[in-house]
Amino acid sequence: MPPTAEAIHSPGSAGAPHRAPVFEVRGLARVFGEGTAAVTALAGVDLDLFAGELIVLLGASGSGKSTLLNQLGGLDSPTQGTLRYRGWNLGVADEAALTQFRRNAVGFVFQAYNLIPSLTARENVALITEICRDPMTPEAALDLVGLGARLDHFPAQLSGGEQQRVAIARAIAKRPEVLLCDEPTGALDVKTGITVLEAIERINGELGTLAVIITHNAILADMADRVFTLSDGRIVNARTNAHRGSVRDLAW
Ligand SMILES: Nc1ncnc2c1ncn2[C@@H]1O[C@H](COP(=O)(O)OP(=O)(O)OP(=O)(O)O)[C@@H](O)[C@H]1O
Ligand SMILES: [Mg+2]
Repeated sequence: MPPTAEAIHSPGSAGAPHRAPVFEVRGLARVFGEGTAAVTALAGVDLDLFAGELIVLLGASGSGKSTLLNQLGGLDSPTQGTLRYRGWNLGVADEAALTQFRRNAVGFVFQAYNLIPSLTARENVALITEICRDPMTPEAALDLVGLGARLDHFPAQLSGGEQQRVAIARAIAKRPEVLLCDEPTGALDVKTGITVLEAIERINGELGTLAVIITHNAILADMADRVFTLSDGRIVNARTNAHRGSVRDLAW
C-alpha cells in the first residue's frame, strides 16, 4: 500500500534523512511494443524530486517527457529500473494501491482541460472532492485559482485559461502532494497562459505541492527550482536556479 499521510509526516519515523525525496527514480526505462516495433521512450532516467519543488521538464517532441510524467503519476509502469514514492516501490505496486496513490497523492493537469460540459465549475471540482481522503471544498480550490466568483459557470461560459484553472482547481482540491502538468499552457496564448502558470505557482508556494511542468516553452525554465532536459529518453541537462523568477517577471 502507498504510505499514508500520517506515516509520511510523523516526526522521525524510521530515522528518515532530513530531506528524503518524494520521488526516487533509478535507471528508469520504458519500452513500448516488442521486437522490430519496439520504441524506447525512456532509456535510463535517474532523478530525485523533493517536496515543495517546482520542476520544469523540457525536451523535443518524442523525447520521453509525457512518458516520464505518466510514470511519476502511476499511470504507467516501468520496463526496467525503479520508481519510489516516499520509499514505496510504485513499479511493483498492485492496481488497488496505485488507484489509492493516484486518487490521493497526485493531481494531473493536461493540455486538454477535460471538463464535463454539463457541470458547473463547482460541480466539476466536486466530482473529485467526493472521492478523496482529505479534500478542501470546491469553493476553496476555485478561490485558489482566482475563480471564486465563477463557481456556477459552465465550461462554455469560461475562457480557455479559466477552464484550465478549473482543471487545476480540480487537480489540487484533494491537496495532492504532487501536481503533474503536461503542457498545461499548450493550447493557450501567452497572456492566458500566464494566469494558468500563476495558479500553479501559487499552489506550489502556498500548499507546498511538488509541481512538475512539461513545456515546450524554454522561458518557463526561469520559474523553476530545477530544470531537466530530456533527449531520446535520457536526461541530458539538469540545471538548478539559484533564484527562481516569478511568472510575472519572466521575459515573455
Ligand atoms: N503508448 C505508446 N505506445 C507506443 N509508443 C509510445 C507510447 N507512448 C509514447 N510512445 C513513444 O515514446 C516516445 C516518447 O513519447 P512521449 O509521449 O513521452 O514524448 P514527449 O516528450 O512527451 O513528446 P511531445 O512533446 O510530442 O508530447 C515517442 O517516440 C512516442 O511515440
Ligand atoms: Mg508529451
